Amino acid sequence: MNSTGTLYGVGVGPGDPELLTLKAVRILQSVPVIAYPATPQGSAQARDIAAQWLDDKREIPIAMPCMLDRGPVNQGYDEAALVIAEELAAGQDVAILCEGDPLFYGSFSYLLQRLGDRFPCVVIPGINSVSAAAAAAATPLITGEQRLTVIPATAGDEVLRRTLLDSDSVAILKPGRHRPRLLELLRETGRADDVLYIEQASRTGQRIIESFEEIPATPGPYFALFLVVRAENRLGTGLVD
Ligand SMILES: C[S@@+](CC[C@H](N)C(=O)[O-])C[C@H]1O[C@@H](n2cnc3c(N)ncnc32)[C@H](O)[C@@H]1O
Repeated sequence: MNSTGTLYGVGVGPGDPELLTLKAVRILQSVPVIAYPATPQGSAQARDIAAQWLDDKREIPIAMPCMLDRGPVNQGYDEAALVIAEELAAGQDVAILCEGDPLFYGSFSYLLQRLGDRFPCVVIPGINSVSAAAAAAATPLITGEQRLTVIPATAGDEVLRRTLLDSDSVAILKPGRHRPRLLELLRETGRADDVLYIEQASRTGQRIIESFEEIPATPGPYFALFLVVRAENRLGTGLVD
């Protein structure tokens, strides 16, 4: 038996509480301590998604001051890692909640780097936002020989341009303020007709825009993504395997 606690990275899925896995629920019910990213305004998406399973836990919010500035973000991880390490050293199991999948652009990766070599660690995968968005739009993401590239909108113009030209399917995450620039790159690379834009996949505010012209050329929300798929992947066009 371990004398220290186990660190769990728990994926809570893209937003719909019904998209938590049975295993995630079992782990959340069993641990005495949870940790989760929280904004200075107190918003904590991962916690909200799993809220019904979190009664009577010791809670450790992980401060996420400003997503653009790595300095304070790293400080937030350092401070949270210290508090979490104390709990683990005292023999308490700790679950770090992560929106979507913990290892898919997940903040859990940064805590794993800080704690994974000192404590036993178990990761529970979650449904990621790309799968949730394709499901919301009922659109095949990749089939047969097709290739998928996942890329953040923070990438430079040239990398995004090359990706759009080279990949059959492209998922562009974190569009936010980059939305106008992405629309321009989609037009420039001839992929405008291939685009789907999905906000808040699986959540009550879910919005799907299937026509390039209807996507606003203004900054947009954080919880959104672009899916670029070949025309033959769209409904009614006849997939070839
Ligand atoms: C830091 S990444 C986290 C990804 C997450 N770990 C996952 O597995 O999908 C945050 C980005 O994921 C995307 N995202 C997360 N949840 C989403 C949702 N429900 N609908 C649309 N996009 C989402 C957005 O592009 C957002 O900017």
